[in-house]
Amino acid sequence: MNVNVVILAAGQGTRMNSDLPKVLHPLAGAPLVVHAMRAGLALAPERLVVVTGTGGAAVAKAALDYWPEAVIATQAEQRGTGHAVLAAADALAGAAGDLLVLYGDTPFVSGETLERMQAARAEADIVVLGFESRPEERYGRLVTDGDELLEIVEWADAGDATRALTLHNSGVVMGDAAVLLRLLDRVEPRNAQGEIYLTDVVALGRADGLRAVVVRCDEAETMGINTRAHLARAEDIFQGRARALLIEDGVTLKAPGQVILAFDTAIGRDAIVEGPCVFGPGVTIESGAHVLPFCHLTGCHISRGASVGPFARLRPGAELDEDAHVGNFVEVKNAHLGEGVKAGHLTYLGDTDVGPRTNIGAGTITANYDGVFKYRTVIGRDAFVGSNTVFVAPVVMGDEAMTATGSVVNRDVPDGAMAIARARQEVKEGFARRFFARLREMKAAQKG
Ligand code: UD1
Ligand code: MG
Repeated sequence: MNVNVVILAAGQGTRMNSDLPKVLHPLAGAPLVVHAMRAGLALAPERLVVVTGTGGAAVAKAALDYWPEAVIATQAEQRGTGHAVLAAADALAGAAGDLLVLYGDTPFVSGETLERMQAARAEADIVVLGFESRPEERYGRLVTDGDELLEIVEWADAGDATRALTLHNSGVVMGDAAVLLRLLDRVEPRNAQGEIYLTDVVALGRADGLRAVVVRCDEAETMGINTRAHLARAEDIFQGRARALLIEDGVTLKAPGQVILAFDTAIGRDAIVEGPCVFGPGVTIESGAHVLPFCHLTGCHISRGASVGPFARLRPGAELDEDAHVGNFVEVKNAHLGEGVKAGHLTYLGDTDVGPRTNIGAGTITANYDGVFKYRTVIGRDAFVGSNTVFVAPVVMGDEAMTATGSVVNRDVPDGAMAIARARQEVKEGFARRFFARLREMKAAQKG
């Protein structure tokens, strides 16, 4: 069955106490709205519409950066979740099949759960995703009778008996697109703000003889982020699950509680993360690689047998081939380190290619930026870069070449050559003794 996805992402989130639109708050390295999009894309939808409002341009940018085919709809005034779905009506014109409504503030719905909802559609016109939660949570309450979902009552509108229900509404709804839009057209505005609740389609649909059911899943999947406390809790839940999955997949985490993962961190079997580390988005680590404590890794790839850290920083485009080694206080950005390359200490490699087996001495810097443009440094295989070499890019160093310690290299170094670019040393016999003797005499004279 064809499915179309609408993601509601227009609300400011007044309980977040923030200037940032709620759906742009990051969770596991990606804005909330991107998590919702990932969930929806798992069903390979015909159309994916993101409804924006408050901070619309920034939300649209985040959505399109992630999925350029997304269609952006605008809800000028935030008049409720149902009103937001109606704002997507134009974007959905002519769309056949089902409509799945996801909330931009509900990040962790799994593809597996959505598939269960699709399966439940065989028996029901409207399928709502629900979860068991604590009575003090202010989610909408799902009022059921056996398998039938009778209505959804918002916490604010609920009496004590309904508030006591622990089956809560995730907001995720699936049904035929045309049917849901037709029902929404008839939903009466609720309160002084004239809000149209998406949740009202259940009671209205039942009155029309439609059948509604609940598909249940774990709260970790469906919790909606309304407050900073929810955001912190969601991060915690996500991290716990992501670590557990890695461990199950054969990764050793020596300090699991202090490894911060991103939504897309991928680590192979028998890799070891030796201690606290932070993973930004886009990190892939192959089997058997070794990450020592206190590294910050983003947008990088670490191959089999390579080791990184302690205290290393790999930034986007850092690519380490097999058995490469990046040691302490080394930063690598947009750079490819060939097999067995060693950059052990205090180094910056930016916009650089390093051939296999080359040794990068301590304190090596690639000066890649002139304040306006960036340039590449290319270093060949089996080369030896002396400590404290500065490469002034663009510059090429050949295979099996070397640089003398302390050189500033701004011209190409041919294969097999040595570049030395530093002042020649002079030695002044006895100078140090005479110099300090004079200073001490001066000090004694001042005191006397
Ligand atoms: C909603 C549900 C509630 C459910 C909860 C789950 C309704 C009426 N209530 O409440 O039953 O338990 O989610 O998290 O549906 N949004 C818009 N435009 C609007 C209003 C909201 O795009 O005019 C978006 C928000 O950006 C957010 C999502 O819809 O991503 C949900 O809105 P929110 O205000 O958080 O609704 P809740 O009060 O959480
Ligand atoms: Mg919410």
